[in-house]
Amino acid sequence: MNVEAVDQALTTRRFGRRLFYQARVDSTMRRAAAVLQQKALPEGAVFVADEQSRGRGTAGRVWHSEREGLWLSCVFQEPLRAQPLSFLPGIALVDVLREHYGVDAHVKWPNDVLVGNRKISGSLGESQRQPDGRTAWVLGVGINVNQAAFAPPIHDVAVSLRLATGQMESRELCLARFLGKLEELYDGATDLVAEWRRRTQMLGRTVTAIRAGQEQDVQVLDLTPEGHLVVALPNGVRETLVAAVDLRLRV
Ligand code: BTN
Repeated sequence: MNVEAVDQALTTRRFGRRLFYQARVDSTMRRAAAVLQQKALPEGAVFVADEQSRGRGTAGRVWHSEREGLWLSCVFQEPLRAQPLSFLPGIALVDVLREHYGVDAHVKWPNDVLVGNRKISGSLGESQRQPDGRTAWVLGVGINVNQAAFAPPIHDVAVSLRLATGQMESRELCLARFLGKLEELYDGATDLVAEWRRRTQMLGRTVTAIRAGQEQDVQVLDLTPEGHLVVALPNGVRETLVAAVDLRLRV
């Protein structure tokens, strides 16, 4: 990645102005945590890598992180301006994809961004205590940018920006645009649940919930103010999902 090109394309005041770049890391999450353990960092500090050897996904899954993607972790400091913070990257990326690339992306609960039924991005959040006693929040975001194809097991569930637009895209520009939108939304101190609702196709739909290997069709009713998902089970009973449930949209 050309870090100078990122810097030139950035429109932000804070986000991405402190950029820790490495061609190859185990995981930008581990790297961010290791640095934050040693010293506090300004909000908007970003760790980015071309390649991760042990990219981390949610629920202990591996995150495939070959060279064509954007793999980054961004630091937030308390008090957090917007809640739930975990919704922020998905919302920001949907706007970037729609506004800059003409790609009709949407969010899938809790933190995925889809194009059609395929995943273009996922994110996860972790906290880290800094030496000054403050807690930093790190959002890790993976964006599939220039992959021409995906290998099993994700070949039929993943998509890249390149596959969506039909051409190679600049990862530097994509990063700068994403950080610009992240800062704009975050500084707007917006109600992220309301913003999320506006960018999803899930509300009212029947989706398949997968829990402990069991599949069940549920109807998505709404989100709680905390960002939990309210669903109706086949017997009509309402249930609030907090996390750790895989949902599959039905075609
Ligand atoms: C998911 O499972 O959907 C979340 C994926 C998060 C991947 C990103 S890539 C950058 C950062 N570093 C990691 O090891 N994981 C996150």
